[in-house]
Amino acid sequence: MNNPVRAGLQRRYEARLLERLGGRVEGKRVLEIGCGRGVGTEIIFERFGAREVHAFDVDPDMIEQARIGLSAYSPDRLKLAVGDVTAIEAPDASFDAVFDFAIIHHVPNWKDAVCEVARVLKPEGLFFFEEVTSYALGRWFYRTFLEHPMSQHWFGKDLFVSELERQGILVGNNVVERFFGDFIIGVGRRM
Ligand SMILES: C[S@@+](CC[C@H](N)C(=O)[O-])C[C@H]1O[C@@H](n2cnc3c(N)ncnc32)[C@H](O)[C@@H]1O
Repeated sequence: MNNPVRAGLQRRYEARLLERLGGRVEGKRVLEIGCGRGVGTEIIFERFGAREVHAFDVDPDMIEQARIGLSAYSPDRLKLAVGDVTAIEAPDASFDAVFDFAIIHHVPNWKDAVCEVARVLKPEGLFFFEEVTSYALGRWFYRTFLEHPMSQHWFGKDLFVSELERQGILVGNNVVERFFGDFIIGVGRRM
């Protein structure tokens, strides 16, 4: 998924929709989970106006690429680290917003990831998410060319949203399905 087509979609389409649903995060302290090579991190700074972004990925090579690509940002504004979304290295209620650009569907124990996101969000903090659903992951292209967890770990919109709400992140109707239900894009608020 780390390719120019994906990056273009992320910048021109997903970011615009996420902003419409959740607004900007001007001057805020933000966490990005599974940042890959850092395209989302740049969007969070430039489009959403974050003051400080902490971004991590489980893959050290991705963090190395992100370090190179994001070298223009000073270390007091950008913290990059290798880390696992099911055990986030941050205190409770420490971020104003968390961004998820298509990572939670990669995590077999994805409900633990949701639990961790809820834990590190401040009350009233926002969770911006773009996720890939079981409809997409069941398609031939995804099964053949991309590596993902087994089908018993997949989710659709309703299951994902109900898990967020069970863990205290209220989404309500602030979520949309795109491309025949293959993607869900939404913003929830920590209660
Ligand atoms: C589809 S890529 C998305 C990367 C980036 N967010 C983007 O949109 O371009 C999924 C990313 O999630 C990372 N990832 C997978 N499991 C993870 C975990 N348990 N904790 C943190 N990152 C993880 C992968 O290494 C990969 O970089």
